[in-house]
Amino acid sequence: MTEDLHKLALKAAEKAHAPYSDFPVGAAIRTTDGRTFAGCNVENAAYPEGWCAETSAIAHMVMDGGGKIAEVAVLGLKADLCTPCGGCRQRLAEFGTAGTRVHLCNREGLVETVTLGELLPKGFDMGKTP
Ligand code: THU
Repeated sequence: MTEDLHKLALKAAEKAHAPYSDFPVGAAIRTTDGRTFAGCNVENAAYPEGWCAETSAIAHMVMDGGGKIAEVAVLGLKADLCTPCGGCRQRLAEFGTAGTRVHLCNREGLVETVTLGELLPKGFDMGKTP
């Protein structure tokens, strides 16, 4: 992972709207054609209406015309390690591949890199991969 994704995820986490969980998260995507997008979690007083940092970053990518995710950094501002939730694994899989690199970061930097295939084995894809 290049340092820029960590920086983008950190800056995004600092913008999070997380007054209910007090768990700010930032995510930064790099597409296969080299564009970067960041997002934060946005919570709501009606708890289930909030959404995750990865979701915000994906929305920015889609609004820029879409793309394929080559790598993504996920950072919990107050956590030693922040892995994507189940729903976000599925959302990342929509635009990534089993080989998409997922960089698990904390405030200081990279902790561990895993693949999306490791995080979401046999993910639902409407039967495209037998
Ligand atoms: N959260 C994310 O933004 N991404 C994840 O993958 C894990 C969870 C957010 C959702 C909620 O605002 C807060 O973290 C606590 O669950």
